[in-house]
Amino acid sequence: MQSLFLFTLLASTFDSDGREIFSCYTYKTVAEYRPNIKQLQILLDSSNNSACSIFPAGVNINVTIGSVDFATIVPAPNYPPYSYTITNFGYSNTSVLIIEGFSLPDDGTGTGDEISIDYLLIEVYSYAEITRIEILEMQTIISSLSECFYSTMPVTLTQNYLTIQMNATGLCRIQISSLDSLHITIDGNAYSFDMTNLPLQDLATNYAHNKLFTMKLTPPGVTPLAFTTLKPNWDATGYLITKSGGIETRIDLQFSSVKYTSIAGFYSNPFMALNDGQFAFTTVPIVAKIYQLVAVLASTGRSYNNMIFRFQVNTNGQSRTFDYRTGKYNMYITKFLFSCSDMPSNEQNDCMKFYKMVQVSNDVMVTASGMFYLNDTLIGAQHDTISYKRQQWERTFFVTEDDKICLFLESSNPKFIFNPAIPTTFNISISKKINVTAHGVNGTFVFNTNYNNSDKVCFQNQTLQDLIQTDYIATLVVTHGTNTFYNLFWGTVDGDIKKNMLTAYIILGIGCFAAVVYSLSGFVRFQKQLKAMKKKKTM
Ligand SMILES: *[C@@H]1O[C@H](CO)[C@@H](O)[C@H](O)[C@H]1NC(C)=O
Ligand SMILES: *[C@@H]1O[C@H](CO)[C@@H](O)[C@H](O)[C@H]1NC(C)=O
Ligand SMILES: *[C@@H]1O[C@H](CO)[C@@H](O)[C@H](O)[C@H]1NC(C)=O
Ligand SMILES: *[C@@H]1O[C@H](CO)[C@@H](O)[C@H](O)[C@H]1NC(C)=O
Ligand SMILES: *[C@@H]1O[C@H](CO)[C@@H](O)[C@H](O)[C@H]1NC(C)=O
Ligand SMILES: *[C@@H]1O[C@H](CO)[C@@H](O)[C@H](O)[C@H]1NC(C)=O
Ligand SMILES: *[C@@H]1O[C@H](CO)[C@@H](O)[C@H](O)[C@H]1NC(C)=O
Ligand SMILES: *[C@@H]1O[C@H](CO)[C@@H](O)[C@H](O)[C@H]1NC(C)=O
Ligand SMILES: *[C@@H]1O[C@H](CO)[C@@H](O)[C@H](O)[C@H]1NC(C)=O
Ligand SMILES: *[C@@H]1O[C@H](CO)[C@@H](O)[C@H](O)[C@H]1NC(C)=O
Repeated sequence: MQSLFLFTLLASTFDSDGREIFSCYTYKTVAEYRPNIKQLQILLDSSNNSACSIFPAGVNINVTIGSVDFATIVPAPNYPPYSYTITNFGYSNTSVLIIEGFSLPDDGTGTGDEISIDYLLIEVYSYAEITRIEILEMQTIISSLSECFYSTMPVTLTQNYLTIQMNATGLCRIQISSLDSLHITIDGNAYSFDMTNLPLQDLATNYAHNKLFTMKLTPPGVTPLAFTTLKPNWDATGYLITKSGGIETRIDLQFSSVKYTSIAGFYSNPFMALNDGQFAFTTVPIVAKIYQLVAVLASTGRSYNNMIFRFQVNTNGQSRTFDYRTGKYNMYITKFLFSCSDMPSNEQNDCMKFYKMVQVSNDVMVTASGMFYLNDTLIGAQHDTISYKRQQWERTFFVTEDDKICLFLESSNPKFIFNPAIPTTFNISISKKINVTAHGVNGTFVFNTNYNNSDKVCFQNQTLQDLIQTDYIATLVVTHGTNTFYNLFWGTVDGDIKKNMLTAYIILGIGCFAAVVYSLSGFVRFQKQLKAMKKKKTM
């Protein structure tokens, strides 16, 4: 009733010679307005009226904004109509009209998104026909410029270039078409890319909805080793600058992750396990990957004379770093144990606090890095993320009893209860221990028993007995049905654990970045803030 009323009044204000075709679209047709990218979208809901198929591909469209003044009753268009032409119109296949460069006059609030609109009149007309669509409902979508791309925007760095993956939302066509430059800051170093870079030209030209751009960029003036890094994860920010008619617009980019890409999958099933106040890391390299690493190092034209194995454990925004320094890379060094009790005495409390935090945390990230130095200059790095295998026992160790070797499994709060009716496999690997590391594997022993949750389980094997007469590191893998538990421990046969750790560096308080990475990865993708501007009025 009200629609008809409005329509009659409005129609009388236009003087079209064309034949009018009624009811091409239903009342479900809505408008969405994105003020900051100056875009109006009319989402057409077709009534499938065959009479409307008569429109040619080239049609004119007028958009008229109006508001009803209740005091005077007579509605009148407040602003002259927006007029534009499209050339690919098809009644059966055009489901949206996108009007770029559309803006509502300022209502004085300055925000441009609280304007009172009572209706939009959309006129689609050709030389001979016209149809009119009234829209009494309009949504304003606050489309921030950060919505130009989906939030999954990983950045990867290799030694001499960076790659940014951008998936376009299509919302910022106008801005991106006048792209001027890209600016990115990585760990405090700023890099700029202008339009002479082909990937930026491609972005400006082909920006469209759901188009994925993989932009590989070499920063100007950067030495080949610019991105060699101490860290697997970086801190980076970036933005695009567009320039149009003297107006500069900054489009902030939200990187979902920034990673230094090393040789992928360098280790076979690397993991961290905890035992008795110790952080134990197992990193068995894959031989073919070692050859790749050697080639990467050789490509630097320099040879290293120092290396650091660095393990970083991050949880709850805190992190600890454990370093093992050595001269040459030794692929047989595959296990590293760092014990809180070997820390300087003033660090031990904090170390144990951190250890206990990791034990109960659901959010643990562990990285393993190999860093190669020529004197003090970093010339290459290999970074990997490794998994954390939660412990079942807080403390495991061997004790010999006569001709038997007994494994003690201590837990004050067992998480898993073994079913003695089901066999349990104890797989024990023994490695020779040198300082905090294990060199090679000297023997693997597999025992099957019906373990009943006791804190002691004994086996008989003379070879094992002999092997643990020297310093050793033992890897224990316990399998029970589909459950697997990992422990690493070290010691000598008399249980007198020798603590001769070489280096264990603790770096406090630098874990905040890890927390940021985590929160971003769970970031809500493409948040839309919808505001219903107008509802139908009853008159
Ligand atoms: C028009 O046709 C489309 C698909 O053929 C259908 O989804 C839609 O519901 C129809 N609209 C009306 C108003 O019948
Ligand atoms: C569309 O708007 C233009 C001016 O903005 C006007 O000249 C023209 O008559 C309008 N067309 C119709 C069908 O109202
Ligand atoms: C609709 O179909 C016509 C003819 O197939 C085509 O020329 C036109 O580009 C299409 N329009 C859209 C918006 O897909
Ligand atoms: C990103 O782009 C790809 C390829 O164009 C597309 O299939 C995918 O749906 C897009 N991703 C998102 C999050 O929209
Ligand atoms: C590395 O240190 C050694 C000993 O201090 C020195 O002789 C050598 O020149 C240094 N190499 C480089 C490349 O700085
Ligand atoms: C025991 O562990 C070693 C190394 O961890 C592995 O190679 C071997 O296959 C395992 N044996 C069994 C029976 O699970
Ligand atoms: C083990 O540590 C000692 C001193 O703590 C050191 O002299 C020795 O070189 C280290 N061995 C290896 C293989 O790193
Ligand atoms: C253990 O293995 C390493 C390297 O594989 C070897 O050097 C060492 O002698 C072995 N130790 C024993 C006790 O067999
Ligand atoms: C001890 O274990 C080793 C390796 O599994 C095996 O070869 C050997 O036969 C075992 N010895 C005895 C006495 O069971
Ligand atoms: C569990 O097994 C151990 C030997 O492995 C045995 O000494 C102990 O009595 C058993 N406990 C129960 C409750 O069966």
